[in-house]
Amino acid sequence: ERFAVIMAGGSGTRLWPISRETRPKQFVNVDNGSCMLVKTVERLLQTVPADHCFIVTDKRLKNITRNTVKNLIPGENIILEPFKKNTAACIEFATMTLKKRFGEGLICFVPADGYVNDREKYKEALERAYDAAEKTKALVIVGITPSYPATGYGYIQVDSEKGDDERILIVQKFIEKPDIDNARKFFESGEFLWNGGILVGSMDAIMNSVKKYLPEHDENISHAVKHSKLPTGNRYLNDAYNKIQNISFDNGVLEKTDCIYVIKGEFDWDDIGSIDSLAKTGKADADGNMVSGRHLGMDTSNSIIFSEDALVTTIGIDNLIVVSTKDAIIVCPRDRAQEVKGLVELLKEKG
Ligand code: GDD
Ligand code: MG
Repeated sequence: ERFAVIMAGGSGTRLWPISRETRPKQFVNVDNGSCMLVKTVERLLQTVPADHCFIVTDKRLKNITRNTVKNLIPGENIILEPFKKNTAACIEFATMTLKKRFGEGLICFVPADGYVNDREKYKEALERAYDAAEKTKALVIVGITPSYPATGYGYIQVDSEKGDDERILIVQKFIEKPDIDNARKFFESGEFLWNGGILVGSMDAIMNSVKKYLPEHDENISHAVKHSKLPTGNRYLNDAYNKIQNISFDNGVLEKTDCIYVIKGEFDWDDIGSIDSLAKTGKADADGNMVSGRHLGMDTSNSIIFSEDALVTTIGIDNLIVVSTKDAIIVCPRDRAQEVKGLVELLKEKG
């Protein structure tokens, strides 16, 4: 049996003020349509039935998550964590929860914040990943051909020697989020793929890899799952989450294991990491402006205008971002959209 689990508990401050602690990135609407979480569920439902499609998230996001996907998957398929403890905990807890409920099967973990246009190619890649995980009994990740030297993604160095199935590639090395110099080297060498954040493995393969590389996660979470009612955690899970280290599955397991293969995804893909990339999912008008909400401009070009409610008016601007929400506004040059991260940190400091 095949299951899919969407990891949707991230904090999502990079799109501030469009995204907030209480409304992370996956709930933000893209390309003037539905939000990334809904789009992700819809993409997965091409491959798995609704009752096999799960979401794992922070219990504080329970209501917004449930309301967002209520017409797509059953409410009991939302697995709640007591708080964020990064993806290693999230993957281990969700896997043990499904193991307890279904016994065995393959699970595909996907991020909630990936933007994909080509649903056909996505479906095809996922099916190949499930097949490869079944065949190799190992973990399988989906690699994507890099289009620039990004520092925000993991890189997979692929062995040029092909294995017996030429579409299942051997991973030589996995490097999570390199610095810019290494990112440039990796990009130019042509030997690397981006990690798209998609992981497939049998329940046992996933649990064994955690047991081997993060034994504390294994011990504490299995103890809690034994005692907890499904699918929501209880105080045992709370204790377990308090004890374990905050580490991503990428750093904790993928970088260490050699029991891992990669299949190549041919779909276009973007982890919407800035307001600029969010806007690029939509279409620009004749003046190069990307507008969402009410806007009236004179001599305004190549700008991103987002308004939740107010009428935004502009005169004589070029290459700017203007975002207006109920209680916060940001104005900045488009090429400095990445710096929002620093701004949010500053905001936290100043309260
Ligand atoms: N439930 C839950 N709990 N979900 C979480 C948690 C958690 O504690 N932490 C993160 N997530 C979710 C996020 O919402 C996101 O959908 C996904 O897990 C990945 O987490 P990110 O925080 O967005 O990771 P990243 O983007 O920095 O890096 C990962 O994804 C990249 C591709 O998007 C890595 O896997 C990189 O190697 C990869 O390139
Ligand atoms: Mg991400």
